Amino acid sequence: MKSKSGKRIGIFGFGCVGQGLHDVLQDNPHLNVARICVRDREKLRTLPSHHFTYDPQELLQDESIDLFAELISDPEEALLIVRQALSAGKTIVSANKKMISENLSELVALQQEFGGTLLYEAAVCGSIPILRTLEAYYGNEPLQEVSGILNGSSNYILTKLDAEGISYDEALAQAQALGFAEADPTLDVGGYDALHKISLIAAHAFGAVIKPEQVVRAGIQHISRRDVALAQALGGRIRLVATAKLNQNNRLALQVLPTLVFPDSELYYVEAEFNGVQLQARYAGDQFLKGRGAGSHPTGSAVWADVSAALAGYKYTYPKFRYNDEEQLKPVALEEEDELKVYVRTTMPEFLPELPWRELTVFGTERRETQLVGTISRKDFLLYLPALKQTIAFIAQIPAHVSAEQVVNASYLKLEEVA
Ligand SMILES: NC(=O)c1ccc[n+]([C@@H]2O[C@H](COP(=O)([O-])OP(=O)(O)OC[C@H]3O[C@@H](n4cnc5c(N)ncnc54)[C@H](OP(=O)(O)O)[C@@H]3O)[C@@H](O)[C@H]2O)c1
Repeated sequence: MKSKSGKRIGIFGFGCVGQGLHDVLQDNPHLNVARICVRDREKLRTLPSHHFTYDPQELLQDESIDLFAELISDPEEALLIVRQALSAGKTIVSANKKMISENLSELVALQQEFGGTLLYEAAVCGSIPILRTLEAYYGNEPLQEVSGILNGSSNYILTKLDAEGISYDEALAQAQALGFAEADPTLDVGGYDALHKISLIAAHAFGAVIKPEQVVRAGIQHISRRDVALAQALGGRIRLVATAKLNQNNRLALQVLPTLVFPDSELYYVEAEFNGVQLQARYAGDQFLKGRGAGSHPTGSAVWADVSAALAGYKYTYPKFRYNDEEQLKPVALEEEDELKVYVRTTMPEFLPELPWRELTVFGTERRETQLVGTISRKDFLLYLPALKQTIAFIAQIPAHVSAEQVVNASYLKLEEVA
């Protein structure tokens, strides 16, 4: 039955985000929750059982529902739900960055063909309104760079390593106990989650639909106290930074890398589970947004904002997308030739691949591991990164102004403390 008092929403998922949205909606008397679709019939719920269904079709085919919120943890099922809703010209909001980033072209095409709407602010940095900012405010202004700390779990771990001198495993266990990291943390600490988010940012900020293999990606899972101490001796901190940057040749450079940041960067001060995004716009200059990138209520708030906007008729326009005469999306040229300066520490130096370094300084070989600072073209790094990762290496980008000599000196300075 269609409610007389307001709009009706069907919710998929009643976990961290679904419950957060449900709480937040209690403040909105104009929106009635029709039903909530979940998977596990045995699970104890905070609401009576008549609120739930276990069949997605009960929601998707209910004509009395005005819009849907897709907040489940299963990307394959999420895609089926969003696809069906958009194919029927319906409105749906989602928080699933993996599903959306991997299927963006199709999901945009479905909206164009059937007139439906998909919004997904909650998928990128939780409560930070980055997509709406890129769409509505920077829709016309050329952007030079959007980069940031986009994954709260890995930032929590890195903050703990930095502040408390504990091991990676201890920090991860703390993050899991507090609910900041999943039981399987691979998506977060491996940099995949940040990759999904920077892909969505690249679409809205630069009109680029990118494939995962086009992005230089390394995670934090092999970081040791030695790496943290080295960063501190240099006066910096290691943060997992995702970057989409338009170089002067108009080519887009994309990466997700542990990165040495210094106190002159806003990212240095983004701590624990917080996220931070910096924008460089041609005319507006630099801006920085910081906030809660995850969590039940912050993410529920972002979903609510999308729901309200969608009900008011808001759609993404993808203002930076460019089309050819056949109305096909023009690809954005990707950077391959610029140079990356990286620090690598591996405990399996015997398996280090022969990379085409432009400059290379090797040190730390007196221990049962090897450290190096090298510069390499982005194209070569992308090519050899899988082989480098096989050596269980910790890889971090260091700014061009930090010399290999400074890194070597800093490593000996802190050696005693972490030996
Ligand atoms: N957690 C965050 O802070 C956060 C932030 C931003 C974005 N997100 C995204 O939001 C989405 C939900 O995350 P979450 O943290 O809320 O997950 P969660 O706490 O694990 O909850 C997942 C919910 O999805 C339901 N579900 C899973 N597979 C289903 C299926 N096949 N059919 C129907 N329901 C299904 C589960 O049902 P049962 O209750 O029956 O198990 C559960 O209610 C994910 O895409 C995540 O990436 C999360």
